[in-house]
Amino acid sequence: MRTDTGHVFKLEDYRPSDYLIPRTSLGFRLSPDATHVTALLTIERREGVAAAAPLVLDGDGLTLLGVAVDGHTLPASDYEATPDRLTILKPPAGQRFELRLETEVAPARNEALMGLYRSNNVYCTQCEAEGFRRITYFLDRPDILSVYTVRIEAPHNEAPLLLSNGNPVESGTLADGWHYAVWHDPFPKPCYLFALVAGALGKLADSFTTMSGRHVELGIYVEPGKKRLAGYAMDALKRSMKWDEEAFGREYDLDVFNIVAVSDFNMGAMENKGLNVFNDKYVLADEETATDADFANIEAIIAHEYFHNWTGNRITCRDWFQLCLKEGLTVYRDHEFSADQRSRAVKRIAEVRTLRAHQFPEDQGPLAHPVRPRRYREINNFYTATVYEKGSEVVRMIRTMLGPETFRAGMDLYFERHDGEAATIEDFLKVFEDVSGRDLAQFALWYHQAGTPNLTVRSTHNAAAKEFSLEIEQSVPPTPSESRKRLMHIPLAFGLVGADGSPVAWTAVEGAAVDDGLIHIRKRRHTVRFSGVSERPSVSLNRGFSAPITISVQQKADDQFFLAAHDSDAFSRWQAFNTLLTDALIAAFRQILGGKQPVFAARLAELAGSIAGDEALEPAYRALALALPGEADIARDIGKGIDPDAIFAAREALARAIAEANREAFLALYDGLADKGPFSPDAASAGRRALRNILLDYLSLLPGGAALAARHFTCATNMTDRAAALAVLAHRHSGTAEADDALTAFEARYRGDALVLDKWFQIQAGVPGAKTVEKVRELTRHPAFSIANPNRVRSLIGTFSSANQTGFHRADGEGYRFFVETVLEVEKRNPQVAARLATALRSWRSLEPGRQAKARQALLDMAKVENLSADLRDIVERTLA
Ligand code: BES
Ligand code: ZN
Repeated sequence: MRTDTGHVFKLEDYRPSDYLIPRTSLGFRLSPDATHVTALLTIERREGVAAAAPLVLDGDGLTLLGVAVDGHTLPASDYEATPDRLTILKPPAGQRFELRLETEVAPARNEALMGLYRSNNVYCTQCEAEGFRRITYFLDRPDILSVYTVRIEAPHNEAPLLLSNGNPVESGTLADGWHYAVWHDPFPKPCYLFALVAGALGKLADSFTTMSGRHVELGIYVEPGKKRLAGYAMDALKRSMKWDEEAFGREYDLDVFNIVAVSDFNMGAMENKGLNVFNDKYVLADEETATDADFANIEAIIAHEYFHNWTGNRITCRDWFQLCLKEGLTVYRDHEFSADQRSRAVKRIAEVRTLRAHQFPEDQGPLAHPVRPRRYREINNFYTATVYEKGSEVVRMIRTMLGPETFRAGMDLYFERHDGEAATIEDFLKVFEDVSGRDLAQFALWYHQAGTPNLTVRSTHNAAAKEFSLEIEQSVPPTPSESRKRLMHIPLAFGLVGADGSPVAWTAVEGAAVDDGLIHIRKRRHTVRFSGVSERPSVSLNRGFSAPITISVQQKADDQFFLAAHDSDAFSRWQAFNTLLTDALIAAFRQILGGKQPVFAARLAELAGSIAGDEALEPAYRALALALPGEADIARDIGKGIDPDAIFAAREALARAIAEANREAFLALYDGLADKGPFSPDAASAGRRALRNILLDYLSLLPGGAALAARHFTCATNMTDRAAALAVLAHRHSGTAEADDALTAFEARYRGDALVLDKWFQIQAGVPGAKTVEKVRELTRHPAFSIANPNRVRSLIGTFSSANQTGFHRADGEGYRFFVETVLEVEKRNPQVAARLATALRSWRSLEPGRQAKARQALLDMAKVENLSADLRDIVERTLA
């Protein structure tokens, strides 16, 4: 385990490496406890570097067996080797030489799941960000691009399948039942994209012909017997390949494209060149075992990793500070893909909900950092919502400002100019400046400055002068180590909406640049005056969520009600209703704290009913609208002094008020949406299920609710409905016979299917209330639970700590105590997963004083542990700072 060195990596310290590695030949003789790795590296001194410069290679916990230079064993006096570094003190004087390294690794004992490890008896690798150095000594940095040839040897019976990057070259048999395969990848790549897989796996085979006529063999490898479950992933892959050709003109470039599903994986999936490795949760699916959300995730992640082939692999990152160059851009691309495959409006609302739920709290707490950070101690901790989701929003803003054609021209120029390179954010922005002739210097702050900008907006209408004006003021709250903020360039999409719902025209506008429905906010204050406006319009702001900001509008509830019913922008219409719900919930929270029963305006519940029944709206949209803001969302909007129990009570009360007011209508709708015909995972069918399941959630609060949910559970013919009913029973009717019976039945039915049991763990970890911590503790002893498997840990411990506000933040601190214990237990094996879990405490300062002190103590308890991993120490110390 890498413990903390205290070293801080800084962007300004970047300098190119003295040496390059144009060619890399790797040989693996696979064995669980002693895999022999031979690396033959062509080392080239960079132009202008002094001949005497030592060559320093990265390692991480390595055992070195031998070093040779140009075919001669190197005397021990000519190098220094530690597990974490190999220094060749006096490299040969010539420009190029061959370095041969032999190392030994133990994949079966690798529980960190970085480097070469075993998952269910399958050998696999994970090298991003710095896992390659756990295989051999190397210049482990993304600007070292090398052409790889890989030879794998293994016993045929244990590992009939031998895969690596690129195209297959050769294979054959060896003595003693062993065999080998050689792979060659013609595209120079950084070592974080290296991959190897070996084992006994089943293959789902298919093919794709690219737009220029290249025939590509496609393979999805899964555990034997699970091929049937890879069909949806394969379909998503072919749709992704087609879409990238159509939307970005990008085609695939090798003869084979392989995907392997493994059951122990730290993340969702990994884009290794020609050999993507996936968490099996994001490959395996059928109606019996996967929910509609699972299908949507599979589609998005298959696309995401495939899209990296151009945004990440062909053009990679110069250094890890540029992570958003590949991740933010690729998330943007997968968002657009899903929007095109499904419903754009629904997708956009879902994206914004995710951004607000994950990125906003990050930006507003101690772990805030810019989309392109300038400092890190542990790069693993920077695969964040800010880099990914906000990074994607920044790309979206560029497109919004430039328009689709110019944006596409910029992307084309990016691919043309930087193909085969390791690039920077400056390179990326420059292509858009070049194609548009615009100056993006102020806009670039979106990459460099942390924090969520806020706009305060006031509107006034002067009927006599026929003038409508918006007073807009921007501010960016301070974040750690950035107390003074510069003014941002915010593209604010807007619409003026007339009394009949149609757009209001104006004759002239002054006070800001306004084009194509966008106000360009660049100064602290703008007074934007629209002339020729005779009647007071409602103003719809940040349409489509054009910028990732918060807005404080001084708008009358009447206007919000009007927009929630009439805004022509689907996103803003959803937003208006969501704002009304949030305002009502915050008011209820305060009433509850003040010892009062909350009361809600009747027209809010009425509006919920009319949205639910509006046949002109897609069912998926109606389902999203009816989903009340989550407890964490409400907490974020309240800001300080959070008492999760009071928030929970407020939310319950509003849900009940809506259900009671709409009982008949909801029941009729619910009945009308019952599934007819065979299952299909398409977006429209999923939308109907989503609407029916949220109606069930409301109806379950009324008398007879538990019985209704139990019936829903028993009659379900797919996992979406079954899991939804189980969640309703467990969360709303915890402890009843109906809930207990359903939990027991579910466990019995899916015993042996780890991915499905994850849902069972998840649902129980999410049960609100003080008793859940004990239940979760008990479930860690369940035979299907394993502290070494990231999916199990995330389902049970991750759900409890990041999605169960009342359970985790139990007033006596028991949730935190259990959490600290468990995080430290996970950390012994897998520091990366432990560090991610630990971010659940990042909003500790917004809690009420009692819980705040206990949460702080939990963090201090972790901080005082000796030999903490670099990953966990980094999170804990920044959270406390
Ligand atoms: N490159 C990442 C995987 C990764 C992340 C490896 C961090 C090592 C450390 C991959 O492209 C990715 O971003 N995967 C996401 C899913 C994606 C759809 C956002 C993931 O694994 O969560
Ligand atoms: Zn990615």
